[in-house]
Amino acid sequence: MRVSIGAAFMALVAIASNSIMAATAPGLATGVTGGGNAAPVYPKNIVELQTYLRDSVPRVIILNKTFDFRGSEGKKTETGCRPDYTRECIAKKNGFKSQDVILQGGGMAHTGGCSNGQPVSITYDIAGTKNPLIVSGSKTIRGEGKKGVIIGKGLWLSGDNIILQNVHITNLNPHLVWGGDAIYLQGKGNNQPMEKVWIDHVKVSLVGRQMMTTNAAGSNSLTISNCDFDGQTPYSASCDGHHYWTNIFVSNLKMTMVNNCIHHTSGRAPKLSSSEGKYLLQAHFANNYWYDNTGHSLEIDGAYVLSEGNYFKDTPVPNLQENKGSVMSVNTNNKAACKAALGRDCIPDVFVNSGAFVGHSENEVLPKVKDVATRFKPTQPKPLSLSAKNFGVGDL
Ligand SMILES: *[C@@H]1O[C@H](CO)[C@@H](O)[C@H](O)[C@H]1NC(C)=O
Repeated sequence: MRVSIGAAFMALVAIASNSIMAATAPGLATGVTGGGNAAPVYPKNIVELQTYLRDSVPRVIILNKTFDFRGSEGKKTETGCRPDYTRECIAKKNGFKSQDVILQGGGMAHTGGCSNGQPVSITYDIAGTKNPLIVSGSKTIRGEGKKGVIIGKGLWLSGDNIILQNVHITNLNPHLVWGGDAIYLQGKGNNQPMEKVWIDHVKVSLVGRQMMTTNAAGSNSLTISNCDFDGQTPYSASCDGHHYWTNIFVSNLKMTMVNNCIHHTSGRAPKLSSSEGKYLLQAHFANNYWYDNTGHSLEIDGAYVLSEGNYFKDTPVPNLQENKGSVMSVNTNNKAACKAALGRDCIPDVFVNSGAFVGHSENEVLPKVKDVATRFKPTQPKPLSLSAKNFGVGDL
């Protein structure tokens, strides 16, 4: 009896690891294998998790519990910045809280988010702001059902061939700007872009700063799919319960962003910036669902983005008016040009109870995104309900 239970168990493990192997990333990260067929490891505590993520061994790391880093590196109280928008929010007394700001190297005058700042005492959990979890190349990190949760610390991806799947990252000092980033695409050494990175069915909530961001390197074959970017927060810079700093990419980048849900945000959802022409960013956004975003969603500044088959609902500003970027939302007028360039039908975006999309330098988009946008064939846009079949964490 014991033998057969053991055998059944081994067979289950084999199926689990095979199914990880069998998963196929859509878009640019197609071909990513992560830790491949390495025997799965189950970190038992935060130290083991840190080690498995960082070491140079290809690994399949299964998260079947919560890893709570809060308190593990202590708390710090210091002088921070109270910006003008937070003072205004306090005066409004509308039931929402804003964010104070952790001062960075440049002090009060040069810290992002600290506009017209006044000194204020702030306290934060150090684990969220320092020593992110370094993820080396050839790793699969995968949550089991809804059990894989990382609280109070972000991931710093730094290597080729990484799969991050079905994990919820949450609670990085949401009360403070610079309180923590959930997923940082760090590139490799010497600012080399990472190859084949797949972020899939990941949920991010309650961060101080960015849900996802890049350093100067980024990736040239990144797919972000079926993720749940949940901006609901008591502490929003926009004083309305919607997170502002959502996702910002400032690096060379080639990205497929498909089937994600981006909701309850108020800005930068996402922002792609060339930093005054320093970087080349090419992205395909398709079949995503944006809803209940009070501020702007897309902010395309010097980048090249094709948006098609997306569903925007209750989103008054689908994209920010910018003169420097190039962005094209497929509609009935430009569909034919899109088809001619990509060699397949292009699918118009849908806007429901939302503002209008403001295209700019549209004719520059198709030649620049052709190689990216031909990797994924969109279907008709629809509002997606929360379910692991659609987006977010669960039983995959
Ligand atoms: C996680 O899975 C491993 C391997 O099956 C098991 O040994 C461990 O007890 C599990 N941990 C939890 C918290 O369920």
